[in-house]
Amino acid sequence: MPGIAVIGAQWGDEAKGKVVHFLARDADMCVRFNGGPNAGHTVEDDHGTARLHLVPAGALHPGCRGVLAHGVALDPWVLEQELAELAAQRRPEPDLLLSERAHLILPHHRLIEEQEGTAGRLGTTRRGVGPAYEDRAARRGLRLADLADPDLVREHLHEAARRVGGFTPDPIASELIRFQNRFADRIGDARSTIEQALAAGKTVIFEGAQGTLLDLDFGTYPYVTSSSTTVHGVSWGAGIHTDRVERVIGVAKAYTTRVGEGPFPTEDRGPAGERLRQGGAEFGATTGRPRRCGWLDLVALRYAHRINRFTELALTKLDVLSGLPEVRVCVAYRIDGARTDRFPASIRELARAEPVYEALPGWRGDVRKARSLADLPAAARHYVAFVADAVGVPVTLIGVGPHEVDTLNVGR
Ligand code: GDP
Ligand code: IMO
Ligand code: MG
Repeated sequence: MPGIAVIGAQWGDEAKGKVVHFLARDADMCVRFNGGPNAGHTVEDDHGTARLHLVPAGALHPGCRGVLAHGVALDPWVLEQELAELAAQRRPEPDLLLSERAHLILPHHRLIEEQEGTAGRLGTTRRGVGPAYEDRAARRGLRLADLADPDLVREHLHEAARRVGGFTPDPIASELIRFQNRFADRIGDARSTIEQALAAGKTVIFEGAQGTLLDLDFGTYPYVTSSSTTVHGVSWGAGIHTDRVERVIGVAKAYTTRVGEGPFPTEDRGPAGERLRQGGAEFGATTGRPRRCGWLDLVALRYAHRINRFTELALTKLDVLSGLPEVRVCVAYRIDGARTDRFPASIRELARAEPVYEALPGWRGDVRKARSLADLPAAARHYVAFVADAVGVPVTLIGVGPHEVDTLNVGR
């Protein structure tokens, strides 16, 4: 029953999409369990570049079923658009299963996000994800299971139009009913289907969205997303016990980025940060916003490991560090004068954290051509070993470029 969770270890955009797609070549199922179209997961292969918001990255492989579990906030318009884009890239149609218990993102959720000002205050992705999860908790959400009842759909939209305003309910209701007709045979009991696949010994990948530091509870609250982004999200959002998850792969960039507001101790607003942004093409896959950049934060990474108990790390975008005279890593924080390895819950305290850096030797040359560990310069290998040792987790995958072939599988 190999369940494999792929979890963002930082603030998102760690290259989870690429890692999932790489691993899914041999997988039977790939499950998104949290988040919605706020995610932007990039896969680059011979068909081109796919920017996925809802379709699980593994489902690009024929033979790997894609599941959107109940924890996903599902925007049907985004899903249809994404399927059209994949078809335009001449990719085979993904074999999808949509949980009947998943909540829908409706047009008014985006309106609410703007009206309430959360979009500006937190720097959200403006995809209506937060308001949809709010409706779910407020017990007034619309779920996929409800779409089979057209009267209920119309009533729901009319009630929302009275409460929120700003949109005409009937055309939206009609589109939802059309969506239901198109996907009826793919809406079902996702949890049981996943459970059965695991029981039959199939390989199931759980594809996390966002990252540990954006988790609603474990992240830098309130500058977080509104779902469970860690390995615990597998039970939260797919209803699968984490004892089914054999491998927990933490995906971490070889440096750190963040989009949106909130504390970021190793952020570098100077030339070093700019160098990482340009070298790593650090612009959001969902919103196009420039990502904030800085050195690798081992305090944050160890914190992510304590929460997720990673069995492996995938260290991505190592190529971006090539050509630097030295590479810095944050090995501890200094908060109010005292050195600490604690990742504070209080964002005020975190904002006061000053990184304690260690400088490691840099390396030259194009590591993108590397296909095994031995092809990497000694200083790059040293960097990888330093990170593995500092976190206490083996690095089993190394990213040396955006294309799927630019992945070193360095074994377990
Ligand atoms: P995700 O949200 O975690 O799936 O990550 P994103 O797709 O939002 O961001 C990762 C970006 O880095 C994408 O543009 C990828 O194509 C790119 N990428 C992934 N792995 C590597 C790598 O090893 N090296 C480089 N240079 N780019 C990478
Ligand atoms: P992937 O899956 C990076 C950030 C937003 C904002 C905060 C809340 O591609 O790694 P939201 O729209 O979720 O209410 O915004 O979370 N955020 C992400 N940052 N990668 C993501 O997804 C993100 N999804 C949300 O920028 O700071
Ligand atoms: Mg992304």
